Amino acid sequence: MDTDQSKPQQAQTMQQKLKLTAMVAMTPERVIGKDGGLPWHLPEDLKVFRKYTTGHPIVMGRKTWDSIGKPLPKRQNIVLTRDTNWSADGAEVIYTPEDLATLKLMDNNVFIIGGAQVYALFLDQLDEMLVSHVYETHPGDTWLPEFEDTFPNMTIEETYETFELRRYTR
Ligand SMILES: NC(=O)c1ccc[n+]([C@@H]2O[C@H](COP(=O)([O-])OP(=O)(O)OC[C@H]3O[C@@H](n4cnc5c(N)ncnc54)[C@H](OP(=O)(O)O)[C@@H]3O)[C@@H](O)[C@H]2O)c1
Repeated sequence: MDTDQSKPQQAQTMQQKLKLTAMVAMTPERVIGKDGGLPWHLPEDLKVFRKYTTGHPIVMGRKTWDSIGKPLPKRQNIVLTRDTNWSADGAEVIYTPEDLATLKLMDNNVFIIGGAQVYALFLDQLDEMLVSHVYETHPGDTWLPEFEDTFPNMTIEETYETFELRRYTR
């Protein structure tokens, strides 16, 4: 068998088995970020984020990695960048979404955790979106692209005083 031809096939097969879920919190105006960080302090939402993502690979843009500043524990931290010199302790690097298929993943349920550039990049491939709808308005400089039209099915998963977690599927 020609091994050069079999490699892309193997990668394709692996990728098909992945389930891609985006997890994001946004305001009614779709704000998700401000000055490189989160515009709000919502400990309950961070707990929800931890509950859903623990034990799974998480994929983030290099700017979101910088805003967190360290690997999130009990998760496989994967960072997307164009900078081939970039590295950080506790992070695995990818340069394209397709590179995900080349990694040895801890689990096939992969969470895309932002920010806006990375949500937009993965949007067409996402199986579902878990969105914390923050009730209050917050000013910001980063927004979530429109996704609702292509994810018409919505269920409310959890409700809290300051936000509601909704699951959107295709
Ligand atoms: N509310 C939420 O749920 C939530 C979640 C996550 C993040 N955020 C917020 O969102 C903001 C950051 O979002 P952002 O959109 O500015 O940045 P981002 O998506 O986190 O990261 C952008 C970086 O990803 C890399 N990248 C983007 N497209 C790429 C491509 N096609 N190929 C390879 N690498 C690519 C580039 O890294 P290089 O420049 O290194 O090449 C780019 O600068 C922050 O304020 C953060 O706090 C909010």
